[in-house]
Amino acid sequence: MPNDTMKKIVSLAKRRGFIFQSSEIYGGLKACYDYGPLGVELKRNIKDAWWRDMVHRREDVVGLDCSIIMHPDVWKASGHLAGFSDPLVDCKNCKERFRADHAPRKDAGTETEYRENGKQDGKKLKGVVGKQGYVCPVCGGGDLSDERQFNLMFRTSLGSVDPMQEIAGAVEELAKLDAKGRRERLGEIIAKSAVYLRPETAQGMFVNFKNILDSSRMKPPFGIAQTGKSYRNEITTANLTFRTCEFEQMELEFFVEPGTDDEWYAYWRNARLEWYKKLGIREKNLRLRDHEQSELAHYAKACADVEYFFPFENESGEGEWGELEGIANRTDYDLKKHAEATGKDLSYFETETKKRYIPYVIEPAAGADRATLAFLCDAYDEEAIPDQKGEDAVRTVLRFHPRIAPIKAAVFPLVKKDGLPEKSREIMAALLDQGVNCFYDQSGAIGRRYRRMDEAGTPFCITVDAETNEQNTVTVRERDSMQQTRIGVNEVVEYIKEKVK
Ligand code: GAP
Repeated sequence: MPNDTMKKIVSLAKRRGFIFQSSEIYGGLKACYDYGPLGVELKRNIKDAWWRDMVHRREDVVGLDCSIIMHPDVWKASGHLAGFSDPLVDCKNCKERFRADHAPRKDAGTETEYRENGKQDGKKLKGVVGKQGYVCPVCGGGDLSDERQFNLMFRTSLGSVDPMQEIAGAVEELAKLDAKGRRERLGEIIAKSAVYLRPETAQGMFVNFKNILDSSRMKPPFGIAQTGKSYRNEITTANLTFRTCEFEQMELEFFVEPGTDDEWYAYWRNARLEWYKKLGIREKNLRLRDHEQSELAHYAKACADVEYFFPFENESGEGEWGELEGIANRTDYDLKKHAEATGKDLSYFETETKKRYIPYVIEPAAGADRATLAFLCDAYDEEAIPDQKGEDAVRTVLRFHPRIAPIKAAVFPLVKKDGLPEKSREIMAALLDQGVNCFYDQSGAIGRRYRRMDEAGTPFCITVDAETNEQNTVTVRERDSMQQTRIGVNEVVEYIKEKVK
């Protein structure tokens, strides 16, 4: 069933304008997606909810919006230039390039069967799993190249220096060098103008730590929050927007006095799990997974992932747990590294106690696209209900929490006459005036209009009918229960605002 569910969600996402393949009319671009009219509202609502809960509702967190391209030395100091890489392998049979750590594991020496060149009608071949202990995820072959590290950062060049021109001018010089020398010389030329698209928003908070201390009167424990695009040249991408090359992060760096870090880590670890529950993700589909010591990133003292049970297509057919957010105790690693690299003092001096220290950092790092996908998957439901003729039918409904639903209310005149469209427009205008995103629809049978809104996840439909003219009332139909309540026209705005809050 979950296999089927993901296909249906992908199809609904396209049909109703949540998510489209990027550049689709050109054949699409691998792992790049665009958000349509409903998708952009959904993702924006999730980011807004995050900002409200993580920044506006707290006195101890301030926001930041820093540039995507930063000084290249930031990535040297943070360790990303040397270490932000995945192990890459080529299959010698089908030529697929894949991530070694994502490949199916098999004991070295086990017999494998695969098709020549990975083609379905290719000759059946037999081989054995090599010393690596895994096989090609595409053809199952075990004859693989050695692993090599592939840096995930996107490199580009800044300024008027065109490295291609300089390389062209150095062709003769390069030809005289051996392979190692050529690589080094090319590296030197490229490095002159090389900059990188940030692979995480986090470093922006570390390099602005002193600016914020000096300008905002914040003192530990306090946090700096940022949402924005990050870029990673991911090798394995799949499952719609789960792992893409361009994505948005929602990160908080929370600076605390060393010694209080375990306590704050425990606090954020729980707070972040609760956030997803509060916004309607079902408890059974959420879990916190603590990292084993061997899994921890080089900078982390502790880390836990908030995971969601996605209905992804996989061999088990049951779906699988995927990371939504990591909560890490990054210690004083980043501030120390940037202090060393720049010679700037990034310690904090507490005047009352006369203590000086480099703060430890607790980092809840979430992905806006993954969260959007999880909210979409969790909201998806099919309900068997009789249609208007009393026959069995299926109602497809997205049961979003009203706070994140792309459209909060739809307004329908029952018929296109008797002043009902005009009355409906007045109600629309009053709702829009109060910042309630709503949608007007007067075409088709009322049942069809309700179904369209169910598929968009709209929690309330307001119908204007003959009684509206007589008694100044409308019906409000609630998406999940399908119950209809009659309320006064002048109560509509407050009623919807209260429910959406
Ligand atoms: N600053 C720490 C950091 O960036 P991360 O676990 O690499 O940690 C945090 O990323 C979150 O960003 C992930 O939990 C995920 O939600 C999101 N994310 C990371 N890589 C992604 C990708 N390629 N596509 C979509 N989301 C991604």
